Amino acid sequence: MRRSSNRGKRTFSMIKCSSAFNIRCALVAFFLITLPVVYSQVWAHGWKAPKPASKMENPLPSTPEVLKSGETLYQDFCSSCHGMNARGGSSEELGLSMAPPDLVKRLKEHSPGDFYWKINHGRGDMPGFKDDLEPDEVWGIIRYIEGLIPEQ
Ligand code: HEC
Repeated sequence: MRRSSNRGKRTFSMIKCSSAFNIRCALVAFFLITLPVVYSQVWAHGWKAPKPASKMENPLPSTPEVLKSGETLYQDFCSSCHGMNARGGSSEELGLSMAPPDLVKRLKEHSPGDFYWKINHGRGDMPGFKDDLEPDEVWGIIRYIEGLIPEQ
């Protein structure tokens, strides 16, 4: 008991702020404030598929039939979270710890292979669809989302 309370005291004196301009104090405050922000940003944007998977190419052409069935599957399996137009959902409304991202925007930043892997594997509140969707169904959904990217 005594040893642990001594240790507690020492730790406390290490980060004790004797003056507002104490550099150690400023550093501790800086990291306490910035780390959660940086961490949440890295977590949100840093989800990447393994390299070989992200290099996979979409085997399906972007034909009207592929886009149509991709749209139907998207509306059935994904729109409840990512929204009817794939522009993202609200974490509060859905009761999720993280907001489902805008897939149109994200597909401009990530490769189709990266999306394919993430849709199959999932993470956190995003379910993995490996057992529910055939490979071609997932690729079809990706073609559909691609078709939503506005032309520059
Ligand atoms: C239950 C809600 C839910 C459903 C249903 C859902 N998603 Fe998600 N999705 C999420 C959440 C939440 C995230 C963010 C996960 C994270 O970053 O940890 C996400 C992330 C993603 C990502 C990663 C985007 C990025 O940052 O690169 C893709 C791609 C994706 N979803 C596609 C889909 C597709 C396609 C479907 C339908 C087949 C689908 N999702 C169904 C909730 C959902």
